Amino acid sequence: MAASARPFVLRHTRLQPVPGLEAIRLHLADEVLPLWRAVQVEARDADAALPYWAFAWAGGLAIGQHLRNHPEIVAGRRVFDLASGSGLCAVAAAQAGAATVVAVDIDPFAVAAIEVNARANGSRVMVFRRDVLDDDPPDVEVILAGDCWYEAALAERVLPWLRAAAARGVEVVVGDPGRHYLPTSALIELARYDVQTTTELEDLGQKEGRVFAMRPDHHEPGTPVSVSPDQPR
Ligand SMILES: C[S@@+](CC[C@H](N)C(=O)[O-])C[C@H]1O[C@@H](n2cnc3c(N)ncnc32)[C@H](O)[C@@H]1O
Repeated sequence: MAASARPFVLRHTRLQPVPGLEAIRLHLADEVLPLWRAVQVEARDADAALPYWAFAWAGGLAIGQHLRNHPEIVAGRRVFDLASGSGLCAVAAAQAGAATVVAVDIDPFAVAAIEVNARANGSRVMVFRRDVLDDDPPDVEVILAGDCWYEAALAERVLPWLRAAAARGVEVVVGDPGRHYLPTSALIELARYDVQTTTELEDLGQKEGRVFAMRPDHHEPGTPVSVSPDQPR
């Protein structure tokens, strides 16, 4: 699969500037359903995932704009792009001067897409196909999480993992257009950006993408708050 994924990505996408982030060019598709059918055939898997990797999602677009406006968030730092998809956030971090960029995704086509997109932008990105959400958070300074709250099962796993990373001092940057599963009470909004997406994916072609940090004092309902004995209550 890994060997055939790269030509498949190149065959089914077109290298084009990312709307609102024209310094970044990605191999993107115009239509989702024909490509999804082609993925199912290529992977010989009727349950193959939607080709998320062939689109720049609203959350990633917001992170891209935020890093362009605030390169200091990643400049000279070790950056990890969770659920990288096309590699949009990883490339944006590299362009903003990150010292190192690691991108992970569970989809083999995404891994191929991230590799070809990093190369198309002259960006150095280390790419891994891996579900890291049961692992300890990586030893990095910044984690980018673009559009990770689109389904319940993933949402449930992403929040504790990002909170564990933030508790270790990692700066977490979340981008999302306000999807149903977004845990807003656990987040602090940093900025909003108009992003141009596509009605192939969304109800509207123009969305408001929001960028968040983790709220340091957030506790899940029912989670005991640990207080050390010598700490005043
Ligand atoms: C909506 S796309 C967002 C892609 C990109 N971050 C962006 O904003 O354009 C979500 C991505 O999450 C990936 N994904 C889903 N579950 C994952 C997991 N457990 N670990 C890593 N990636 C995952 C999917 O394969 C998909 O590429």
